[in-house]
Amino acid sequence: MEEKKQIVVLSGAGMSADSGIKTFRDSDGLWENYRIEDVATPQAWRSNPSLVQEFYNQRRKNVLDAQPNAAHLFLAELEQFYKVKVVTQNIDDLHERAGSSDILHLHGNIRQAKSSGPNAEAKYYPIEGWELRMDQQCDEGYTLRPHVVWFGEEVPLLEKAAEICLQADILIVIGTSLQVYPAANLIHYTKPGCRKIIVDPNAAQLMNDKSYTVINKTAVESIPELKRILFE
Ligand code: APR
Repeated sequence: MEEKKQIVVLSGAGMSADSGIKTFRDSDGLWENYRIEDVATPQAWRSNPSLVQEFYNQRRKNVLDAQPNAAHLFLAELEQFYKVKVVTQNIDDLHERAGSSDILHLHGNIRQAKSSGPNAEAKYYPIEGWELRMDQQCDEGYTLRPHVVWFGEEVPLLEKAAEICLQADILIVIGTSLQVYPAANLIHYTKPGCRKIIVDPNAAQLMNDKSYTVINKTAVESIPELKRILFE
């Protein structure tokens, strides 16, 4: 019985699009309807925290109403045949709910809150239901904010994510426009001989690295082709 190969999945908002959750940069995407500087920066929180809180409460409601899609479930099933680690830019918990067991949230997890004061990464607080209210506080008495990495903030788990990508025998990039850094840099952290696959309806435009297998499909539509590659 040979050692199972290591798959690393780098997923983005497109992974959850088939679950009805809006992406950021597609037409009618989130950033077409909101200004990033109004709802997703530390300055936004300082100047209008309840607007920011409400923005994430609405997104949390959408996440709770959504279900993992066939692509989330496929990745979870892969764990029977491969070692699988998921590095996701997504703040939804659909990979968890699909059954994946090893997930790193590069940009946080909308189902959790953290302090808006110093040492915010010291403790995460689970959020019951869809609403995080402005009167909820951390143990030190600071208002709780969503456990989400805003633009301009550090990405605490970046180093760990890079180490994970370097372990990949197979890297599968799914549903990310690779526009946001430092997350997009992770595709360069692969070891020699790593098999690299990108899944995205716009994959051909996104990826000019010829070493990638390009699947110009949605995550769900790509499953048959991924099966052929992974079980050939
Ligand atoms: N299946 C697969 N991919 C899809 C699907 C689908 N059904 N629908 C859209 N896509 C692709 C789009 O073609 C696009 O390349 O998903 C990608 C979504 O890109 P973005 O909206 O930019 O999302 P993402 O790359 O995850 O954004 C990165 O930006 O706003 C920040 O922190 C936020 O984590 C987010 C980061």
